[in-house]
Amino acid sequence: MAGAAHHPSPNNMFISLLFLAAITCSSFSPSNAQSCASYTFSSNQLYASCASLPQLGATLHYNYTADTNTVAVAFRAPQSKAGWVAWGLNPNGTGMVGSQAVVAFQHSNGSLVAYPTLLDSYVPSMAPAAPKNLGLPVSDVAAEHVNGKEMVVYATVALPGKGSKFNHVWQQGTSVVNDVPAAHPTTGDNILSTGTIDFSD
Ligand SMILES: *[C@@H]1O[C@H](CO)[C@@H](O)[C@H](O)[C@H]1NC(C)=O
Ligand SMILES: *[C@@H]1O[C@H](CO)[C@@H](O)[C@H](O)[C@H]1NC(C)=O
Ligand SMILES: *[C@@H]1O[C@H](CO)[C@@H](O)[C@H](O)[C@H]1NC(C)=O
Repeated sequence: MAGAAHHPSPNNMFISLLFLAAITCSSFSPSNAQSCASYTFSSNQLYASCASLPQLGATLHYNYTADTNTVAVAFRAPQSKAGWVAWGLNPNGTGMVGSQAVVAFQHSNGSLVAYPTLLDSYVPSMAPAAPKNLGLPVSDVAAEHVNGKEMVVYATVALPGKGSKFNHVWQQGTSVVNDVPAAHPTTGDNILSTGTIDFSD
């Protein structure tokens, strides 16, 4: 389950309070009533754990292997074929900037594409990151669009070996322009979709 960030600065504290308020309100909404554990994947992939994330109707499903410091994830969120979804880890900070994400969207050639990207500012390029620039090596990146209603992005991430608890971020946007995911809304749930995840839970 996601929670508030560690070591909050005054700004982050404000966001964290909003975040907690959002959790409290959304726990009564129908979207949160459905447990992530009831979700089944198209190829019946199984994950040992999952979290119903408190914003954007998203869920994260994961298999954590402590021995090898790796986590295999499937991130899913409601999305049409015109939009994009992304999930990332921020290994050295909180929030969007500094996160390394995987993003999925439908390319203009008709293929669903997915790749790792670096969220190095509030206006990141969203371009594919070169493997040498990935602080957290990523493999097995794939995506699918399900029933015209949701997108799933899969990845296996090599973790830095400092435990199982991380700050993470997740996001969705409704448009892709020239095969680049366009900016997400900068209000509401789209700026609250950040928290902590303990992969050993
Ligand atoms: C997750 O781990 C379980 C148990 O080891 C395994 O059966 C399953 O295939 C794994 N799932 C993925 C997607 O790797
Ligand atoms: C569409 O473009 C993507 C990204 O360049 C590429 O990976 C994919 O193979 C292309 N698909 C087709 C059907 O050409
Ligand atoms: C996080 O910090 C460590 C230690 O300073 C550094 O080696 C690593 O490259 C950083 N990771 C990322 C993804 O920036």
